[in-house]
Parts: sequence; structure tokens; C-alpha cells
Amino acid sequence: MLSRISQLGARIMREGRAAAKLPSSTTSYYRGQPSQVLPPAKSILFSTATTSSDHDQGSQYKEKISVTFVNKDGTEQTISVPVGMSMLEAAHENDIELEGACEGSLACSTCHVIVMDVNYYNKLQDPTDEENDMLDLAFGLTETSRLGCQVIAKPELDGIRLALPAATRNFAVDGFVPKPH
Ligand code: FES
Repeated sequence: MLSRISQLGARIMREGRAAAKLPSSTTSYYRGQPSQVLPPAKSILFSTATTSSDHDQGSQYKEKISVTFVNKDGTEQTISVPVGMSMLEAAHENDIELEGACEGSLACSTCHVIVMDVNYYNKLQDPTDEENDMLDLAFGLTETSRLGCQVIAKPELDGIRLALPAATRNFAVDGFVPKPH
């Protein structure tokens, strides 16, 4: 009887030890899994995004024209503008002080520019009624005034000079006729 009890005790001890081992082997199983399952997501995402964006940028604009902005204080800034881009966008990309409050939706006149050479003015598409309505509200309107967001760069405009409105008086002296209000 006594030996039976001790055999039983030994068996319980063995099973107890075996049970005690289980959690540690279970833990190591789970610890190993994530690194095998998770893909290297970071590197895949980065390489895809960079490649497609670079490609789009490169193919969108091919040709550029030269545009000179004459600032309110009379200083000049000549920039390269890709064909297809508006003068408002080009001004913003080059830190030129052309406001553009409505961001090109023909709901303001803060992008008003004056085309300094009538020959270039005549190369522009005629303004729409909406543009004319907004131009009527512009300060210092002249016969060659346009809204910068509606003037789109094209090869024939290479060399165009655009004055910002505060300089209007100077150009009126040089032959620009202010529109009567
Ligand atoms: Fe408002 Fe050009 S930005 S009309």
C-alpha cells in the first residue's frame, strides 16, 4: 500500500513537471510565428509610391516658356513655366506675390495681371464672360488686363511680361490705357 502511494506520488510529480513545461514551449511557438507571417510591408509600400509619382511628374510637362513678372515695386522676376500651367500656379510655385484667393475658380479678381505687350495680349484666348465679369471688379483695370488663373502657358507666349496691378500707373504712362469704369 505504502509503495503504491509512493508510485502514485511519483507519477503525479512527473505529470506535473510535464504540464509545467507546456506553457514555455507554447510561448516559444507563438513567439516564432509573427516574424514568419508578417511580410516586409514597409519596403514594398515605399518603392511603389515613389516610382509612380516620379513617372507622373516627368511626363506631365515637357516644354517650358520664359515669363517675366514685374512686381509692385518695379523689380522683375523671370521664371520658366511649363506649357499647360496657368500663370497663377507658376507665380505661386516661384513665390511671386499674385494672390489668387479663389484658386482659379473665377470667383475673385485677386489674380489680376496686366499683359505688358499688346502683341502677346492678342495671342491669348479671348476672355470668357465670367472672366470679364470678374475683371470689371479688379483694381487698376487696363485694356490688356487678364486674370492670371486663366492665362495658360503655350509656346507662342514665350517671353511674355506680366505686371502685377500696383504697378499699373507706370505702364499707363508707357501707353497702356486704363479702362473706364
Ligand atoms: Fe480667383 Fe483667378 S484666382 S479668379
